Amino acid sequence: MACGRRRPPLYMKRSSPLKEDRFVSFHPHRFCVAPMMDGTDRHCRYFHRLLTKRARLYTEMIVADAIVRGDAARLLAFDPSEHPVALQLGGSEPHVLAAAARIGEDFGYDEINLNVGCPSDRVQSGVFGACLMKTPDLVADCVAAMRAAVSVPVTVKCRIGVDDQEADEALFSFVDRVAPAGCETFIVHARKAWLKGLSPKENREIPPLDHALVRRLKDARGDLSVILNGGIAGLDEAQAHLRHFDGVMLGRAAYDHPYLLADVDRRLFGDAERAPSLESVVSAMEAYIRRGARDGVKPHHVTRHMLGLFHGRPGARRWRRSLSEKGAAAGPDALSRAMAAAISCAAAE
Ligand SMILES: Cc1cc2nc3c(=O)[nH]c(=O)nc-3n(C[C@H](O)[C@H](O)[C@H](O)COP(=O)(O)O)c2cc1C
Repeated sequence: MACGRRRPPLYMKRSSPLKEDRFVSFHPHRFCVAPMMDGTDRHCRYFHRLLTKRARLYTEMIVADAIVRGDAARLLAFDPSEHPVALQLGGSEPHVLAAAARIGEDFGYDEINLNVGCPSDRVQSGVFGACLMKTPDLVADCVAAMRAAVSVPVTVKCRIGVDDQEADEALFSFVDRVAPAGCETFIVHARKAWLKGLSPKENREIPPLDHALVRRLKDARGDLSVILNGGIAGLDEAQAHLRHFDGVMLGRAAYDHPYLLADVDRRLFGDAERAPSLESVVSAMEAYIRRGARDGVKPHHVTRHMLGLFHGRPGARRWRRSLSEKGAAAGPDALSRAMAAAISCAAAE
């Protein structure tokens, strides 16, 4: 579909005070938790889903080839409570991405997302990730192949450019080439990736953020859904950006301070229910750990995602230390012990 032809969807038309929001549908990407390698695995997503029913969750990037040729069940299994959940693929061979997307859809994922943002060497040598910003024709072929293979939405997560590309030109021409291939939703990490000389971590910190450029994209391509990612520190900022964007995606803030997710449904979706208490989340996670133990899941594979749960609260340090100290030797009661430690420490403060 050519850019600029469709009318804006209904949810874009309202002037959006929250009390009205209950009567309109929300954009499916209004609030997303970013894909994070070694972060948003299924245990992490289960945990995040206890905190927010509304956020859209993403897998870590999974290499398409590994899904097609490897143990798809191990790579793709997820808990039904995780919906809505998107599978993020890495790759650049249209037929392999199409096959992986189809397998992902069969597993029940709600969206297939293509990674055009990861700058690591491992990814560049396989010709995918951020370096694909330089080859929009190839990305369009990938999107078209995936779109033909699945009926769930195919989306793209990209940067604003790489290396010495002129970011305005790079982002607009990328989007204008890829959108007609069948991508209506672009999640834009609002900084360039520098492919030589910076580590992946530095590439998430050093290239400057340019939210204004992503906003110009949304203003100029109102028919497309544009989701802002990069440097959004909390829900106040998220709420402010939602005046201009279809959605926001938070990575490190959500992972490092997960309890902020507990306010998402109320603050960003106008839900009436109270935020889940820390105690209820900890107790549900303990039950999850006990169930997982029967399938050989080690408690620390789960609890490592929960180190920041008490961030900013009394007892946070004791909680973190208690969860970290036993590492792989932690038992299924690791969480209740850490909770008791945090509470006793908080009481003493
Ligand atoms: C540890 C870590 C792993 C990441 N892995 C991925 C990934 O697998 N796929 C991806 O598209 N982005 C990945 N990212 C980038 C994030 O999705 C996000 O774009 C970036 O962190 C900027 O958002 P933030 O400032 O809210 O963290 C990763 C980020 C971190 C911190």
